[in-house]
Amino acid sequence: MLELRNLSKSYASGRPVLSNLSWTFRAGEFVSIMGDSGVGKSTLLNLIAGLDTPDVDPNAPAASPIVIDGVAMSGLDDDAATKLRRARMGFIFQAFHVLPHLTLLQNVALPLLLNGLPTARAAEMLAAVGLGGRGDDFPHQLSGGEMQRVAIARALVHRPALVLADEPTGNLDPDTAHAILTLLRHEIKATGACAIMVTHSHIAAGMTDKVLQLSKSCIQETTIVNPFKQ
Ligand SMILES: Nc1ncnc2c1ncn2[C@@H]1O[C@H](COP(=O)(O)OP(=O)(O)O)[C@@H](O)[C@H]1O
Ligand SMILES: [Mg+2]
Repeated sequence: MLELRNLSKSYASGRPVLSNLSWTFRAGEFVSIMGDSGVGKSTLLNLIAGLDTPDVDPNAPAASPIVIDGVAMSGLDDDAATKLRRARMGFIFQAFHVLPHLTLLQNVALPLLLNGLPTARAAEMLAAVGLGGRGDDFPHQLSGGEMQRVAIARALVHRPALVLADEPTGNLDPDTAHAILTLLRHEIKATGACAIMVTHSHIAAGMTDKVLQLSKSCIQETTIVNPFKQ
C-alpha cells in the first residue's frame, strides 16, 4: 500500500540524510523502524506524510519516490496532499499532541469533522481505548498513558489506511508502554491499517510484525528476540 522507490532527501544545508531507499509496506502490517539517533527516521515519516518533499532524482525527474495505493505523491499539489493526509493517514507522536482546550471526545472527533464524516464513531473509539466514561474530561486531567490512548483513538477514528507513529511510547514507563502497544496493535489489526512505528525500544519493536533497521542508504529487515511477543 506504500512504496518507497529510490527515495532520497538532503536538506539545503548539505549532506544527504536519506539516499536511494526502496521498500514496500503492505496493508495490515505493523512495522517498526529502528536506527541511530539522527539517521533520518523522523525525516522518513515526514516525507511519507507529505509534510516534506523528497529530492528529485536527476536520472528520473518525473518518477515519484513515494507511491501510496497507486497515487504518486510527487504529482499532488499542496491541497491534494493535505486531503490525502487527512483522509488516509493517522499520526501518533511521542509528545501526544492532544489539543489542551478540547475535551477528549472533541479531540478524537477532530479527524471526522475535518473529513466531513459523522462523529458518532468518536465515542466508540474512546470506549475502545478504555476511556469510555471520560469524553467530557480535558487532557490536563490525564496521565501520559491515558493521553496516548486518546492519541491512538484520534489517529484511528477515521479508519486511515496508514498510521505513522514517531516514538509513541518514548515518554511512557515500560508497563504503560507495553499496554499502549498492545492496544495499538489490536486497533490496527481491527481496522486493517498499515502502521509504521519509529522506536528506540527493542521491546516495542518486538511487538510489531516486522522490524526494519534504517541507515542512510539502506532499509533492512532485522530480527529481535522478545519475550513479551504474543
Ligand atoms: N528541517 C531540517 N533542516 C535541516 N536539517 C534537518 C532538518 N530536520 C532534520 N535535519 C537533520 O537530518 C538528520 C536526520 O534527522 P531526523 O530525521 O530527525 O533523525 P531521527 O528521527 O532518526 O533522529 C539530522 O542530522 C538532523 O539534524
Ligand atoms: Mg526522530
